[in-house]
Amino acid sequence: MTATPNGSAATPVSAPARPPVSAPVSPGSSTVSDIDGMRFRSVLGRFATGVVAITAIDQETAKPIGLAANSFTSVSLDPPLVAFCVAHTSSTWPRLRVADRLCINILSEPQLDVCRQLSMKGGDKFATIDWTTAPGGSPVIKEALAWIECTVESEYPAGDHMIIVARVHHLDKHHEGEPLLFYQGGYGRFDG
Ligand SMILES: Cc1cc2nc3c(=O)[nH]c(=O)nc-3n(C[C@H](O)[C@H](O)[C@H](O)COP(=O)(O)O)c2cc1C
Repeated sequence: MTATPNGSAATPVSAPARPPVSAPVSPGSSTVSDIDGMRFRSVLGRFATGVVAITAIDQETAKPIGLAANSFTSVSLDPPLVAFCVAHTSSTWPRLRVADRLCINILSEPQLDVCRQLSMKGGDKFATIDWTTAPGGSPVIKEALAWIECTVESEYPAGDHMIIVARVHHLDKHHEGEPLLFYQGGYGRFDG
């Protein structure tokens, strides 16, 4: 029973039946046929986010690798978990997911170039990026606001992306500054 504002007891309302939470959402299974890509992006683009760089040391080359993402969120304090989504088309994710440790770098407003570099397809993304290492050896990018070192805990297929849940092992604040914001396909700053 749940207490209502006037003190009386409210009966819980049972949730409507849903498919099991672990059921993968297959591409093309939407029941709303008029959702085209442009509409989806323009509506969802009204949700402002920060941007992170997900980095690791490549198992094969021992060099830093990474990609930019705005789908990052915190999930759980106990155990400490975070999550993000990765497109099936990513060529960097298969190399990131097998690394010993991942590092989520929260990008600062002056790091637009870092974001652009890491969202490139191909090439040496780290050619002009300065970095140090977190306790587990993953790359911490210079001037990131904070870093979160983690390992992949679980992966869930979701349409054209995978939802990745990662366990946090170390984390800290880093550079002082303002966040890089992503909104309606463009970049901005926080004037709070
Ligand atoms: C602002 C921004 C946010 C992005 N967010 C994501 C994301 O959440 N998930 C994702 O898979 N790719 C995201 N991307 C695209 C990747 O950074 C990258 O372009 C893509 O993974 C292709 O590179 P790759 O083949 O090296 O992986 C984002 C790109 C930008 C510029």
